[in-house]
Amino acid sequence: MGEKSNDVERTEFALPDSLGPMSQNPDLRPSEIAGDHDVELSLRPKSLEDFIGQKKVRQQLDLVLGGARARKVAPDHVLLAGPPGLGKTTMAMIIAQELGSSLRMTSGPALERAGDLAAMLSNLMEGDVLFIDEIHRMARPAEEMLYMAMEDFRIDVIVGKGPGATSIPIEIAPFTLVGATTRAGMLTGPLRDRFGFTAQMEFYDTEDLTRVVTRAAGILGVSIDSQAASEIAGRSRGTPRIANRLLRRVRDFADVNADGHISVDVARAALLVFDVDEQGLDRLDRAVVDALVKGHGGGPVGVNTLALAVGEEPSTVEEVCEPYLVRAGMITRTPRGRVATVQAWRHCGLVPPDDAPGL
Ligand SMILES: Nc1ncnc2c1ncn2[C@@H]1O[C@H](COP(=O)(O)OP(=O)(O)O)[C@@H](O)[C@H]1O
Ligand SMILES: [Mg+2]
Repeated sequence: MGEKSNDVERTEFALPDSLGPMSQNPDLRPSEIAGDHDVELSLRPKSLEDFIGQKKVRQQLDLVLGGARARKVAPDHVLLAGPPGLGKTTMAMIIAQELGSSLRMTSGPALERAGDLAAMLSNLMEGDVLFIDEIHRMARPAEEMLYMAMEDFRIDVIVGKGPGATSIPIEIAPFTLVGATTRAGMLTGPLRDRFGFTAQMEFYDTEDLTRVVTRAAGILGVSIDSQAASEIAGRSRGTPRIANRLLRRVRDFADVNADGHISVDVARAALLVFDVDEQGLDRLDRAVVDALVKGHGGGPVGVNTLALAVGEEPSTVEEVCEPYLVRAGMITRTPRGRVATVQAWRHCGLVPPDDAPGL
């Protein structure tokens, strides 16, 4: 990464009509804009007001955006941090919407070379919102270019090869960067410091998720009892994306078995079929807890070992499972590794040892 040959290629950065970096964004990939994914798009709230929960973040953003609007300037760069499915992409779209700006989307993994980023940046218009998803996965040379763009609205593009190479400064229209990350801790200090505001998205409580389910059912034209909505919400791992997904699966079940109406009994029966337990743990969560408790005596054990035991990528276990298991009080993180709590032992139907951490 970052050696000379890479820099030289920067001259070749694509111009206006290139969709390269964009087409790799998971939210824009054509193969996924069909079926359930279609539905997911229709369920995205379109304004801050429509956005359920995250009261603190909404309040803060409202001020950041309102202040910028009052001063008629592009707002500070915003970092959205939190586990998958909590509404980061949705919020990025809302920010652009609230500002009346257009949104350009790309993602960290798509910005492999500085040239990829240079192409995006040099095409921005004044006031545009640039959304970089999974910003912690951006390649180093691109990240360094981004520092300068964020601070001075200027980049240096290297032209030519070897000793004759020169750097040409390019002005960038004032824009607002919205970055999203599931791993705020993996951002380098200089990048983190250049965000004027970090919104930490939290898991949703059952009450807010019940509203998410009810709202989605309304949009999808599904008839559902309020008790059923809260049953689904309670098993959604604090995550709206999961709440919406479970609703769709329960709807499938109801369409086949119950004339389409979702009562609480129908919801429970459906969730049993789809392997979601009462605490909202799905199969992977349970596998992790099982591996920790039964396979490793409750820990401490490293995340790589756990990942291996359940046949998943360590990053999936760390970014998807763990945050929720920690919040659910099933595991704690210690410097020596992950440790099962009393609750985890009980969840496995076992008696916890005396030294297991309590709630
Ligand atoms: N606050 C919310 N209110 C209602 N629905 C939401 C909310 N946040 C997220 N969603 C739903 O959850 C899905 C996932 O949200 P998304 O923004 O893609 O999450 P992230 O980018 O954090 O992974 C969206 O399709 C949207 O329908
Ligand atoms: Mg997203």
